Amino acid sequence: MSATHQLRCTNCGVKIDAEAVRSDFRCPDCKGLYEVIYPWSIGWGTHIGGGTQAAGSPATTEVRLPNPGGIRHLWQERKTSTLPVDQSGVWRFREMLPFMRDVEKVTTLREGNTPLYEMPRSAEIAGVDWLLAKHQGMNPTGSFKDTGMTAALSVAVERGFEWVACASTGNTSAAMAAYAARAGLRSIVFIPEGKIAWGKLSQSMDYGALTIQLKTDFDGCLKLLTKLVQQFPIYLLNSVNPYRLEGQKTPAIEILEQLEWQVPEHLVVPGGNLGNSSALGKGFLEMKHLGLISRVPKISVIQAQGANPLYRWFGDDNAVMRPVAAETRATAIRIGNPASWLKASRVIEETGGWCEQVSEQEIALAKAQIGAEGIGCEPASAVTLAGLKKLVAAGRVTREERVVLLLTGHTLKDPQFTIDFHKGELLTAAEIAGATEIERAQSNDLRKPPVVLEADEAVIIKALKARMAAVESK
Ligand code: F0G
Repeated sequence: MSATHQLRCTNCGVKIDAEAVRSDFRCPDCKGLYEVIYPWSIGWGTHIGGGTQAAGSPATTEVRLPNPGGIRHLWQERKTSTLPVDQSGVWRFREMLPFMRDVEKVTTLREGNTPLYEMPRSAEIAGVDWLLAKHQGMNPTGSFKDTGMTAALSVAVERGFEWVACASTGNTSAAMAAYAARAGLRSIVFIPEGKIAWGKLSQSMDYGALTIQLKTDFDGCLKLLTKLVQQFPIYLLNSVNPYRLEGQKTPAIEILEQLEWQVPEHLVVPGGNLGNSSALGKGFLEMKHLGLISRVPKISVIQAQGANPLYRWFGDDNAVMRPVAAETRATAIRIGNPASWLKASRVIEETGGWCEQVSEQEIALAKAQIGAEGIGCEPASAVTLAGLKKLVAAGRVTREERVVLLLTGHTLKDPQFTIDFHKGELLTAAEIAGATEIERAQSNDLRKPPVVLEADEAVIIKALKARMAAVESK
């Protein structure tokens, strides 16, 4: 029996002991996904039915964290510690994720601790006064997945698993392979053949995973893996695993710490399998419940137009989520049947956010604009700026609102996309024709294709002079 936490089905509400969870992390009654709850969570210990109630759990939410001032101070103090768990930007906040029996045994690459950058040029472009980017691409394997992987992989180790696996569009697999290697576990990666960026594919090989490319999409990979983990002792590390989301909620705490606990009005997040938006929402809502903040930011989710099931659900009758056949160059979010759609839709509802979709051309332009700020990100992350422009234009975000974009992956994850954009080889003629005149002009202005010259001083000087004159005449 686990007294530290329980798992609650987010669909039917049944609570179970953590050790009783099935290998596919689905509720046996309704196939819903679980969330981790603690003695201080709303609803802890009150028996809803079907599941096993944890022993010794209080009937109310009387168990509380230390006072908010005290806990903030403790988190701050740990920054000067040399202990690996204190240097991690996930485990430094361990009071918010107290599910490990021995927290000093976690597998950490010192994830988290990512920068919050000011984005003055993007702010102007989007039409807001104050815009920041939380760059999760600055994690050890270059994406936000590290914060979730340290959490769930540490559980795999604690439970004695030797094999771990995930289906992935590339970043989860990179993170899993790295953390598994650190912990001495064996890892298996299922990825859609030909549909992941080279940077990510190379990472899983470099970190020693068994990399299996399947002739299907991400949704097909996850479906197959879900069946396999029920037949072999393999620990599933996709975001259906609720411990992943516990780690992924910590950037919410970091953002607040970095803003001296001033809550921004809006957080804009890319949406693929929808684990990340769910996790960040859980983080903010829990902090409000614990009295660390008095309100939460609106959380808006942005999808690629070709992979937009949540957007369709949002604008439709809000009844059932219909999967789509996904297609987008932002391969990280090329997902048509998102596992965590129910959790994410509740986060949007509870925080008052929106769901938007953006075209391929809008993604490419926004990515170049983020790059031109000296920050850069992978294509899936750029949907945030592209989506923000639309939210502002539609009056969903006002100029005075303080907005944070969640940049999920490093620009080096997918260099081919960037090179193709700058060479003018990314978009089709029809896509370019679909852009507005202003967008086309902005794109042309940003494009910086490499210049090939003779290795001759005079030739170089002539070319430089021409370029300098062109810049000055603008
Ligand atoms: N941005 C990046 C860079 C991603 O890699 C992903 C998801 C997302 C956004 C969307 O996050 O799925 O939580 O809504 N990548 C997964 C993977 C699916 O396998 O790496 P989500």
